[in-house]
Amino acid sequence: MYAKPKVKTIVMKDSVPVVTIDGPGGSGKGTVTSLLASELGWHLLDSGALYRLTALAALNRGIALDDEAAVAKLAANLDVQFIAGTGILLDGEHVELAIRQEAIGLGASRIAAFPAVRAALLARQQAFAVLPGLVADGRDMGTVVFPDAPVKIFLIASAEERAKRRFLQLQGQGVNVSLERLLEDIVRRDEQDANRAVAPMIPADDAIVLDSTQLTIQEVLARVVDEMHAKGVM
Ligand code: C5P
Repeated sequence: MYAKPKVKTIVMKDSVPVVTIDGPGGSGKGTVTSLLASELGWHLLDSGALYRLTALAALNRGIALDDEAAVAKLAANLDVQFIAGTGILLDGEHVELAIRQEAIGLGASRIAAFPAVRAALLARQQAFAVLPGLVADGRDMGTVVFPDAPVKIFLIASAEERAKRRFLQLQGQGVNVSLERLLEDIVRRDEQDANRAVAPMIPADDAIVLDSTQLTIQEVLARVVDEMHAKGVM
């Protein structure tokens, strides 16, 4: 007798395409990430904002930035809402401008060196990978948070060029700063981020390193899109 074979239906979970854009501050990764995400209609993860929010929350609560356990606990329980567009609420308050201050960037870089803080933020970052896709901006997106991402970009630019870009951006916002001071802060943060023991800022082995010093944002974007085509991601 012919026995009807049992048919087992295997439901493949749709895998979420992820493009990671890592690199130092001022390399243009934030702008490229938001342009790409909005052109594709994909989700966006600004992972640096999570470290900045943690630093700000610690300062608001009088928690010392070198108290790894207390800062990690705070990171695990952050009350944050990302509102489509530009809004970020921390404990119900708008903090978009507060978290962009240089002092908060340096504070974020200090607490980001703690393994317990990074571990506390890991699942929250991975939860951003939702269909139709994610563009993730940070330092360790391609190495630690999304190691299986099909497209990984590591964007660099000279420290002088990055300081100049930041200077012009702040001037445009009516903020008075010295170019020399900005350059010092950038170099200090690069050193902290690149030399820490956990998840240092380095390109993943399979990342494309793009130097944006002489490129416009549109040129960088075009290179990223080329890479996505090459990898069959779009
Ligand atoms: O990118 P952004 O300048 O907002 O990041 C602030 C700081 O957060 C960085 O200097 C870095 O120390 C930390 N960071 C990190 N890993 C990420 C994103 C940011 O360590 N994925």
